[in-house]
Amino acid sequence: MNELIALPTEASVTDALRTVQDPDLHRDLVSLGMIKNIKICEGNIAFQVELTTPACPLKAKIEADCREAIGTLVAGVTNVKIEMTSRVPTKRPMGGKIIPGVKHVIAIASGKGGVGKSTVSANLAVALAQAGAKVGLMDADVYGPTIPMLMGLEDEELQQIVVRLPDGNKAQRIVPLERHGVATVSMGYMIPAGQPVVWRGPMLSKVVNQFLSDVEWGELDYLLVDLPPGTGDVTMSLSEAIPLSGAVIVTTPQDVAASIAVKSLRAFQKLNVPILGVVENMAYFVAPDTGKAYYIFGHGGGQTTAEELKVPFLGEIPLSIAVRQGSDEGEPVLVSDPDGELSRYFREAASQLARQISIQARKFQPLSMS
Ligand SMILES: Nc1ncnc2c1ncn2[C@@H]1O[C@H](COP(=O)(O)OP(=O)(O)OP(=O)(O)O)[C@@H](O)[C@H]1O
Ligand SMILES: [Mg+2]
Repeated sequence: MNELIALPTEASVTDALRTVQDPDLHRDLVSLGMIKNIKICEGNIAFQVELTTPACPLKAKIEADCREAIGTLVAGVTNVKIEMTSRVPTKRPMGGKIIPGVKHVIAIASGKGGVGKSTVSANLAVALAQAGAKVGLMDADVYGPTIPMLMGLEDEELQQIVVRLPDGNKAQRIVPLERHGVATVSMGYMIPAGQPVVWRGPMLSKVVNQFLSDVEWGELDYLLVDLPPGTGDVTMSLSEAIPLSGAVIVTTPQDVAASIAVKSLRAFQKLNVPILGVVENMAYFVAPDTGKAYYIFGHGGGQTTAEELKVPFLGEIPLSIAVRQGSDEGEPVLVSDPDGELSRYFREAASQLARQISIQARKFQPLSMS
């Protein structure tokens, strides 16, 4: 009688999973090569789903869709074990030189100063690292470096090491300082606090290039670059020096109203840098005593602008005392209050960013295989 009981096979499991689509890439998981290590023992099925980022916002949906497909299409199943893993894909560089081991370099920019670029960069970096990605944060604001303060690394100095290059020669390398799971480099580690930086444009771009070429970044999925305000020398030299996976534009509702953000967005588009999305910071204020949200500058401006410009909206971050305190004390809110509401906003924006990077990488993948 036993042979009459249908049991799952690798073929029946694979066929069922062919009906599950990656919602962003619009192809099925099997042909995307995301299903790994199918193991079957009688009615027990185990397999891995390899996502394109550990911070995937669709993780739960994809897992549920796989379960449903197996449940409805495969006979004789008693147990399904799905392990969600990830490997961040890279794309072939379009120009410039690459940093060895670094898969994606992402510029964080804004039209005007003080909109919270550095704060958003630090929190996005920590959120991605907490999700399990390997993350670096480069402070390209050479005149006003704030990453050391934001990450609680104010009194630290960079160390140098000597490495042997593939051609046998030796070279000096800067070792990034690590905090909250993020590797960081900043001009702030090189000059004593409070001392002004008096360099001019050409020297500035040299520093940025040095941060790219002479830093021992190691293996990174994402290197976020916190840019100085505006679209000046540093932005230009950065996008010329290395192939950027894209740029994130940070705005405030006022900035949106004045269309300042649009100018920086257009500047990146001119440089052929994809816009990964817009983050609206200081979107509204939540009164700490009543919990009531006040939309001081109106509601939904960032989202509307993103829609009009046909770029993704990554999320909004409220104006909050906890965020400001975290910045001042060197403990991003994701570290000081990981389960709080503010952390949820940053995590959501980080997931949406990771998602857009995966979508962009997939667009270029046919090139990387050629
Ligand atoms: N969501 C927020 N809630 C409360 N305070 C915030 C928020 N975002 C940023 N801030 C505060 O606003 C100030 C400016 O932020 P930040 O330095 O990150 O801006 P920036 O755009 O990097 O500035 P710059 O253009 O000078 O580089 C800081 O004091 C920071 O703590
Ligand atoms: Mg800044």
